[in-house]
Amino acid sequence: MAGWVRVAAVTEVAEGQCLGVRVGEKEVAIYHLPGGEFAATDNVCSHEYALLSEGWLENGCIECPLHAAQFDVRTGKAMSAPADEDIAVYPIRQDGDDLLVQLPD
Ligand code: FES
Repeated sequence: MAGWVRVAAVTEVAEGQCLGVRVGEKEVAIYHLPGGEFAATDNVCSHEYALLSEGWLENGCIECPLHAAQFDVRTGKAMSAPADEDIAVYPIRQDGDDLLVQLPD
């Protein structure tokens, strides 16, 4: 595993919201769950091409803006059709005012 990469300031992702960031070639979605927990996943839907950060975050799931598949943002598990493939999740941590994600090489 590569090192940790700063992806955003904590203040850029309001509670209950998500943010799409690009790290190198990778699209990553950052989620700020109610209660203060953060999560990070691939930002591209496993069904077709859509950015999940443009969807809706509710009850720990992100709903794809294109065909409404839902994914658990903590586990990446595809929770509803039409997606049947999970998405990758990444370790995320807060360091002061910054959010850092650990991405694979
Ligand atoms: S592109 Fe996400 S559900 Fe179809």
